[in-house]
Amino acid sequence: MSSADSTVTRLIPRHVAVIMDGNGRWAKKRLLPRVMGHKRGLDALEATVKNCQELGVECLTVFAFSTENWRRPADEVGFLMNLFLQSLKKQVKRLHNNNIRLRVIGKRDRFGADIRDGIAEAEALTAGNSGLLLSIAVDYGGHQDIVQAANKAIASGKTELTEADIQAHISLNDVATPDLFIRTGGETRISNFLLWQLAYTELYFTETLWPDFDLAALQAAIDSFGQRERRFGRTSEQLPEHEQRN
Ligand code: IPE
Ligand code: IPE
Ligand code: MG
Repeated sequence: MSSADSTVTRLIPRHVAVIMDGNGRWAKKRLLPRVMGHKRGLDALEATVKNCQELGVECLTVFAFSTENWRRPADEVGFLMNLFLQSLKKQVKRLHNNNIRLRVIGKRDRFGADIRDGIAEAEALTAGNSGLLLSIAVDYGGHQDIVQAANKAIASGKTELTEADIQAHISLNDVATPDLFIRTGGETRISNFLLWQLAYTELYFTETLWPDFDLAALQAAIDSFGQRERRFGRTSEQLPEHEQRN
């Protein structure tokens, strides 16, 4: 039976977080400009949103642009910002019709007003939807996320911070932390993605370049997740599954 067989029963992670990496190499392999890889990467994102929704994933959080990605050549940064704006405008109705709730996490103050308005409109339009929660991390950094959470806690009058204070203000605090992290493109690092939220997430790395990430690739990641034993510090014998197995 192939891993893409829809009759296979899978343990579906509720929250999947993805570093969509490898667009540039995908393009380079085809002697195309890097930005063509980003364009195809957007198609892969569209497909992944649909696949996650159909598989029953509740939250999908994707890394689209890091606080470090501003260091790229100005024309690539400009292309990515424009692609983000155009896709916000183009896709929002389709996302809304599919009952998807869209949210953008990260800093907003380095965007132009057009992008800020586009985000606000997309979030407002889809806020009441009950299907997949799609969070797009743009100008996002895990360090920056923790610092902004600490600053908000301090502004609310706290002097000595607890984990609960950070948790109360960190991005995505209203949903369960990611169950499964996927990074495409072969690098085995976190690159300043959701540092706080990934503390107990199952990590999965694949050589597949992001534009090639399809349903079978997603299912392979979910199958790997299904093999993991999540102990959260406990022993195997303490887990409820252990009772069922014996
Ligand atoms: C990921 O692909 C997309 C962004 C960071 C915006 P890359 O552009 O990093 O692709 P590679 O890693 O150079 O292949
Ligand atoms: C991480 O990818 C950020 C995104 C996918 C948006 P990078 O390709 O920028 O990561 P590094 O710098 O190689 O670690
Ligand atoms: Mg990269």
